[in-house]
Amino acid sequence: MRQAIITKGKTSKNFKIPTEKDWGDFAEHVVSELKPGDILALSGSLGAGKTTFVQALAGSLGIKKNIQSPTFALVRSYPISGHGKLTRLLHVDAYRIDDERDLMALDLDEELADNETALVLEWPENIKGWLQSHNPIKIKIS
Ligand SMILES: Nc1ncnc2c1ncn2[C@@H]1O[C@H](COP(=O)(O)OP(=O)(O)O)[C@@H](O)[C@H]1O
Ligand SMILES: [Mg+2]
Repeated sequence: MRQAIITKGKTSKNFKIPTEKDWGDFAEHVVSELKPGDILALSGSLGAGKTTFVQALAGSLGIKKNIQSPTFALVRSYPISGHGKLTRLLHVDAYRIDDERDLMALDLDEELADNETALVLEWPENIKGWLQSHNPIKIKIS
């Protein structure tokens, strides 16, 4: 059993996810509101289910490729079709970022400026400085 709390501005919603197979409803909810430029900041301890959620999110976005945690690559990019202006999902795992300057190399601001891209981010606490000015949608998994 896991739970996910999604917070947008001042509004929070709570979802229960009984088993690993049950992330679909929550992912559908997130996708129904997802827009280009959105940043989903996924927090939760190691093994909480962040990557499992990203797999369900990708499924709801019609992404066929298997999502693997980009812990070593830092960022992976997936094309999206059939979701209007939203044509790309970036998946960043900041687990190994211990100096925010390492993030600069990823040029996320530039990537998000195309008005076609949404970003889903694991370990947001490692890039707090950058996130502070980006008003992310927060998802806390426990
Ligand atoms: N709703 C759930 N209930 C119980 N176990 C889950 C649930 N969702 C995922 N899991 C399990 O928890 C683990 C999550 O791993 P992962 O998604 O890689 O975590 P993270 O990316 O947060 O480190 C996996 O072993 C998965 O089988
Ligand atoms: Mg992970």
